[in-house]
Amino acid sequence: MAGACRQACEVMAGILKSDEGFLEEYLPTMSEPVKITVRPNVPLPVEGPITLTDADGRQWDLTGKPAISLCRCGASANRPFCDGSHKTVGFVCQATPPATLT
Ligand code: FES
Repeated sequence: MAGACRQACEVMAGILKSDEGFLEEYLPTMSEPVKITVRPNVPLPVEGPITLTDADGRQWDLTGKPAISLCRCGASANRPFCDGSHKTVGFVCQATPPATLT
């Protein structure tokens, strides 16, 4: 949350003192939603403008990475990222949103 707030403040500060180049570079990415696709038995791919921090607010450098895969099996040696270990540990997980009443 702190990372997201900081990013928003940096963007606002940049807008206040920006030229057109800054606006073209940052505003389109701020309007893109982050997308997480839950598929059976695999990691969670996260696409979009991502800030990833630990509990102390330290950030992973995701420069140049438009998408990442987060481990959801707990077996990765490179957490929080998937390293493919879910295949060797036989991770099984099905998840779907609850049915909506119509
Ligand atoms: S989901 Fe791939 S290593 Fe955990």
